[in-house]
Amino acid sequence: MSQSNPILHPRKGIHNLEKYEETYEQFKWDSVHPHFSWFKTDKVNMAYECIDRHVEDGYGEKEALVYINGTTKESLTFSELKRRTDEWAHLLKSQGVKKGDRVFTFLPKNQEGYIAILAVIKVGAIVGPLFEAFMEDAIYDRMYDCEASVLLTNAELLERVPVDKLPELHSIYITDDLDHPIAQSIPRLLKETSFEGEAVQWVGLNDGMIIHYTSGSTGKPKGVLHAHRVMIQQFQTGKWVLDLREDDVYWCTAHPGWVTGSSYGIFAPWLNRTTVVVHGGRFKADEWFQAIEDTGVTVWYSAPTAFRLLMNDTDKIKNFNLSSLRHILSVGEPLNPEVITWGLDAFNIRIHDTWWMTETGAQLIVNLPTAAIKPGSMGRALPGITAGIIDLEGNEVKRGEFGLLAIKKGWPSMMKEIWKNEEKYQSYFINDWYVSGDLARMDEEGYVFFQGRNDDMINSSGERIGPFEVESKLIEHPAVVEAGVIGKPDPLRGEIVKAFIVLTDAYTESEELLKDIQTFVRFKLAAHAMPREIEVLEELPKTPISGKILRRILKAQEIEKLEQGDRYHVPL
Ligand code: PRX
Repeated sequence: MSQSNPILHPRKGIHNLEKYEETYEQFKWDSVHPHFSWFKTDKVNMAYECIDRHVEDGYGEKEALVYINGTTKESLTFSELKRRTDEWAHLLKSQGVKKGDRVFTFLPKNQEGYIAILAVIKVGAIVGPLFEAFMEDAIYDRMYDCEASVLLTNAELLERVPVDKLPELHSIYITDDLDHPIAQSIPRLLKETSFEGEAVQWVGLNDGMIIHYTSGSTGKPKGVLHAHRVMIQQFQTGKWVLDLREDDVYWCTAHPGWVTGSSYGIFAPWLNRTTVVVHGGRFKADEWFQAIEDTGVTVWYSAPTAFRLLMNDTDKIKNFNLSSLRHILSVGEPLNPEVITWGLDAFNIRIHDTWWMTETGAQLIVNLPTAAIKPGSMGRALPGITAGIIDLEGNEVKRGEFGLLAIKKGWPSMMKEIWKNEEKYQSYFINDWYVSGDLARMDEEGYVFFQGRNDDMINSSGERIGPFEVESKLIEHPAVVEAGVIGKPDPLRGEIVKAFIVLTDAYTESEELLKDIQTFVRFKLAAHAMPREIEVLEELPKTPISGKILRRILKAQEIEKLEQGDRYHVPL
C-alpha cells in the first residue's frame, strides 16, 4: 500500500459481525436456518418471511416502506404492507395465477412497484421485474424468452410493451383506475375480489421466485432464475454487511428491475425487519441529499457512478443535515480510492465496497464495517464463501497473481438456473468453481483486487450491457451495415458504450445521422444502452476465417488513443 493509499481502519462501535477471522473458520450456512419460520413450520415463502412474520411477531405498526419523491412523503407499516400484498395476491389467485407462472412487473419505483413484486412471490409465481427505462425491444427479449403470461404495469408504461408479439401473454393488469382496451384495472378488480382464505402459497426452498435478465458478451440477455432459498444469504448479509439493526432507516438506490434493487432493495432489509426508503424520480444531487435528511437514512447502498456524480456537487452537502448516516456501501463497478477519500471528507464515513453478480444472488466479497479497508480492494470473502483466483484449468494461481475470480460452488443464493438454457448454466463452471468472468488478484490476507472483465461485457454506471444487443439494434438502422460495440473507459461512468459502424453506400456521415442512430437505440432498446459515442469506419477488424468482429482490437485501439490524449476523436 502506498502512502497515498493508506489502509482505512474501522471506527470503534458495536457491529453485527465483530470477529471476521473466527467466524470465517466456524461458520456454516445451516446455522442461519433457525432464524426462519419455515425451520419450524416447513412452510416456505419469501414474501411471508419479509412481511407477514413481522406482523405475527408483533411489529405490525413499525414503518416498513417510506416513499419519497420531491415533496411527497408517504409511508406504509408492516401491517399495511401485509394487507396490500395479501389483497393483490388474492386478486392474482382469483385471476388464475398459479405457482411457477411467470408474471412480469413493469412499474416505477413507488409503493405499487414493490407491492406488485411481493404479491407475485406470495402466490408462488415467478416474478420478472422490468427496469422502468426499458423500451420495446428490451421488454420483448425478456418477456418472450420467459413466456410470461401475466403483466402488472400502468397505462403509460404499457404503451412500450409489444403485446402483439408476445403470444403467451394473456392477462395485463394496470394500476390506474380507468377503462383500457387491453388491460384490466387493479383498483377496480380489487373492489370485486374476495379476500377469504390464505393469501400465501407455500413453496419449497428450491422453487423459482425471481428472474432477472442479464447481459454477457454474446447473444441476447439471459434469464437468471433465483429460488426462495436466496433468503438465507440475503438475510445474513443484510445483518453482517449492511449491518442492519432495529432502528435503521435503509436506502438502496437501485431500481428493483436490477438485482441490487431486489436482493438489497427488498429482500435483505425486509428479512431483517428494517424500514426501507424508496426514492421515486431520477437522480439529482439535491433531491438525494434531501431524501437522506427527510427520512433520516442511516444505512445507504449505492454505486460508484452515483457517488462520483455527487462528488461534483460536494458544495451542496453543507445545505443538508446528513448526520443520520452511519454506514455507506457501494456495488456494481470498481470503487476508486478517490471516492472513498471523498466519502471520508464529506460524511466522515468509509464507503464499503461489495462484490457480487446477478447470478450470485447476494454479496460474496465485501468490506465489513469491522475490518480494515484497503482502497482499491473489493474486500474479502464472506464467512461461508470460498473465493479463489484460478487459471483456465481451475487451478488456483499464486497469491498476488492475476487470474479468474471464482467462487466454490454451494452458497445458498447461487442462481437456480439460466432460464431454458442448461448449456449456458454449465458454462459458468470449471470443476467445482463458479467462474465470474472477472479478472482479479488476491493478496496474502485474502483481499481481492478487481482488474476488469475477461470478456467483452460493458459496465457503464454499474449497468451491465451486452455489446451484441447494441450491435443487433444498430444494424437494424437503415444506415448501418456493420457495428462493433465496446466499453470505452470513462472517468465518471467507469465505461461508456462506444459504437464503431460501417455505413451503407446510400448514407454519408453527418452529425445529424449519428444523432439519429443514437436515438434509434435509445428509444428501441434502452437509454443506458445507447452508444454515447459513435465512430464511422470504412471497415471493422474481423477474424480472417469466421469473419467475427474483433471487439478486442477496437477496444485496444481506443485505449491507445486515450493514452495519446484522444487527439483524433471528436465526441458527439
Ligand atoms: O464485473 C463485475 C461488476 O459487475 C458485474 C456483475 O454485474 P451485475 O450482474 O449487473 O451485478 C451488479 C450488482 C451486483 C461483475 O461481474 N461488479 C460488481 N460489483 C463490483 C464490480 N466490479 C468492481 N467492483 C465491484 N464491487
